[in-house]
Amino acid sequence: MKRQRWGSRWAFILAAVGSAAGLGNAWRFPYKAYTNGGGAFYIPYFIALFVAGIPLLMAEFAVGQSLQSSAPKAMAKINKKVEFIGWWGIVTSSLVTFYYSVIMGWIFNYLIFSFNVSWKENPETFFLEFLQRSSGPGEIGNIVIPVAIGLAITWLFVYIVLRKGTESVGKVVLWTVPLPIILLIILGIRGFTLEGASTGLDYLFNPSLEKLSSPSVWAEGFGQIFYSLSVAFGIMIAYGSFNKKKQDIANNAIITALGNSATSFLAAIAVFSVLGYMANVLSVKVPEVVTGGIGLAFVTYPQAIALLPGGIVVQAIFGFLFFVMLLTLGIDSVFSLVEAIESSFSDKFNFKKKKFLGIFMGIGFIMGLFFSTQGGIFWLDIFDHFLGTYALLMVGIFETIIFGWVMGAENIRDYINEVSEIKIGKWFNIAIKYIIPIVLSIIFVNGLIDEIK
Ligand code: PFF
Repeated sequence: MKRQRWGSRWAFILAAVGSAAGLGNAWRFPYKAYTNGGGAFYIPYFIALFVAGIPLLMAEFAVGQSLQSSAPKAMAKINKKVEFIGWWGIVTSSLVTFYYSVIMGWIFNYLIFSFNVSWKENPETFFLEFLQRSSGPGEIGNIVIPVAIGLAITWLFVYIVLRKGTESVGKVVLWTVPLPIILLIILGIRGFTLEGASTGLDYLFNPSLEKLSSPSVWAEGFGQIFYSLSVAFGIMIAYGSFNKKKQDIANNAIITALGNSATSFLAAIAVFSVLGYMANVLSVKVPEVVTGGIGLAFVTYPQAIALLPGGIVVQAIFGFLFFVMLLTLGIDSVFSLVEAIESSFSDKFNFKKKKFLGIFMGIGFIMGLFFSTQGGIFWLDIFDHFLGTYALLMVGIFETIIFGWVMGAENIRDYINEVSEIKIGKWFNIAIKYIIPIVLSIIFVNGLIDEIK
């Protein structure tokens, strides 16, 4: 079967940025920065980016592109015995897809609710009632129908775009990558010019340097980079494999990584400036209005928007823009997850694309229904936590060992240098062979110890 190809170099870069810049940039990054030392967090963040994130991204692009295979087949080509590591990443990707698509379903609903101001008056109650969070993971109740409808729309859209392959993904990302960035700039400017914005931004940028002595802050820095760059899922290997063998790698990886970080920073500024304003209006401190993780996007931010000056219409517009931003930010991450899964099955079993997508869409929808139930958020949190951290770290550790020691970091570096404009030094070998697997192992063990405590 002829391998599908990106329409152009920029289609590939945009699709890679689109995969990396997802929902995680909008709520995970600002929240992580805020809880892990504000301005001080950028030290572990950038060290992780340059020492581990970018080298691994280059390595994944290089492996996919040189072997012209998605993750499992690429692993099998390196050594038959390690094929399962590729599948491990793909199983992780599938599980992530099952709940990520449900969050997209929530966003569809919130998009419509933006025009219904009453929910913003008390978004917490709305959040609890609408998504029907229960008191524990044991309480699985009825399916929340509007969420299931949002989920169905998400899958349908993914099917329509992916059925025509990378060419059509390349066309859609021309919109879904720049649009959320433009919207973030608009939201950022609005936030920045509000009274009290600087109080919010202080929490984000004032460094608490003493935090740097805490290992968990470093763990969070590395964790955020890996999650954010979508590495270790098998995605960037698949995306690289749709390039011709002579495509530049070093430049593309750097552009992808910096584009992704820029999106995270824009999101953090947009969110925290508005939180500062909200704290100002309600005469409370920022920590009192920041609820963890998901709550930031679905409870606190809508609440802040409901307080914006200018009346109902302005509030509705900003609410709408925020959720359009989330929707377009997240959708290309879903494309990349499904593309990686689909191409792994096609490479191995010669599945017909449309047939596989149809079946996977059905499975994805049914699995998603589980997370769309009353109590489903509980499971969603649990899945996100364990997959986003441990499953990912395990694959990352094995993957770098395979790249570094079985395939040979030097061989990968030679290939990158052969095709790339920027030449990379021997530091790359050290990063892949030693630093990344060792750092990931430390994070993994520390995390587990923390978990048990
Ligand atoms: N990188 C995405 C984000 O930060 O939202 C999350 C993600 C998407 C991770 C797709 C993995 C993935 F395959």
